[in-house]
Amino acid sequence: MATEIGTYDIMRESVDRLGNGGLFLVSGKKANPMTIGWGVIGQIWGRPIFQVLVRPSRHSFSLLEELGEFTVCVPTDDQKKELALCGTKSGRDLDKIEACGFSVAASAHISVPSIIECSAHYECRVVHVNDLVNATLDSELIERSYPAGDFHRVYYGQILGVYRH
Ligand SMILES: Cc1cc2nc3c(=O)[nH]c(=O)nc-3n(C[C@H](O)[C@H](O)[C@H](O)COP(=O)(O)O)c2cc1C
Repeated sequence: MATEIGTYDIMRESVDRLGNGGLFLVSGKKANPMTIGWGVIGQIWGRPIFQVLVRPSRHSFSLLEELGEFTVCVPTDDQKKELALCGTKSGRDLDKIEACGFSVAASAHISVPSIIECSAHYECRVVHVNDLVNATLDSELIERSYPAGDFHRVYYGQILGVYRH
């Protein structure tokens, strides 16, 4: 049973996990989980925002474009194998929820579900997108992260609710 908590109550843990194994970005009504290591939680337009960065080559990219909604699910310490799978396999080729042995629950605010076995989740609606661009990005970062020119699209998700499981 998920319990609603404050918008920023698990911000520190969430940001720590981005740099240590990742979080699950879930998109699509059927729930396709993808591991993310980049993200920002903060305030824009007087609203709580979770920004996620997704390359156009990801299946998740198409699902986000289609629906404009996502959940971010916070893994437990024993979900390293699932993070590895969701960070290397594409939802185009397999049902990652089934492959991980996960189950999903309907969200309160959006049509994208969350992963029951995770410790918490954010429910977000996309209110803005923009693409990282060559012209204004630091050249060292371009060399390191974009040798193929596949710049991330940034999705600004308004946080509609945060729930502990
Ligand atoms: C630790 C880790 C962090 C990752 N972070 C991101 C990220 O922030 N953005 C992104 O586009 N891909 C990221 N990836 C790669 C995707 O998770 C990976 O390509 C995945 O298979 C895409 O799944 P999909 O095709 O079902 O969307 C990361 C992978 C790992 C292992």
